[in-house]
Amino acid sequence: MDARALKIEAARAALGHVADGMRLGIGTGSTAEEFVRLLAEKVAAGMNIVGVPTSERTAALCRELGVPLSTLDETPGLDLTIDGADEVDGQLALIKGGGGALLREKIVAAASARMIVIADESKLVDVLGRFPLPIEVNRFGLRATRLAIARAADAAGLSGPLTLRMTNGEPFVTDGGHFIIDASFGRIPDPRALSNGLHAVPGVVEHGLFLGLADAAIIAGADGIRTVHA
Ligand code: 5RP
Repeated sequence: MDARALKIEAARAALGHVADGMRLGIGTGSTAEEFVRLLAEKVAAGMNIVGVPTSERTAALCRELGVPLSTLDETPGLDLTIDGADEVDGQLALIKGGGGALLREKIVAAASARMIVIADESKLVDVLGRFPLPIEVNRFGLRATRLAIARAADAAGLSGPLTLRMTNGEPFVTDGGHFIIDASFGRIPDPRALSNGLHAVPGVVEHGLFLGLADAAIIAGADGIRTVHA
């Protein structure tokens, strides 16, 4: 099975956790988009749900496919969020933000009673950090923030290149109007220590370590689906 087929299988399994009347957080990325396509079929067949999208990109796809949308201002409490991830470890610590939506993704996940991650097996790791950690930063004071991030990482025993994410020769801008620094620290044995350190940097808006947010991960592999529980 190719990677897309695995993403579809994970998304299909997650759909089994969606019930009529639910208020859903809807993630961002290619796996989440497969979920949106399957969800739209259910909606067309009469399922009554409302979704809060985690990005403008997901919102656009939902509108195109007829998935009813709300906002966290209208619907501040959600039943379930389904989202992809860049990395998942066995304790359900995640790296997210490869698609640049980490801030809204974290706000939506935190507003949800449950979060289920959907991914193909390539995302499952023993220790987080192979995928560069996305860190969303305020545009103001970028150089100072970058130095402060390096100091926070050093205090957590980590170091590595801090790369400003670019697209078409310009800095990538998030839906919130911020920049992203991709931090290649390598293995992150203590994600909580790094998370605390990064949160103490004033220019850091949010980072892509999702700790204690996911309740389950549905992982699709060549041998089928398996679910990792918290
Ligand atoms: C976007 C994300 C995505 O969930 C993550 O990048 C995984 O994307 P994909 O399903 O395309 O591999 O965090 O900010």
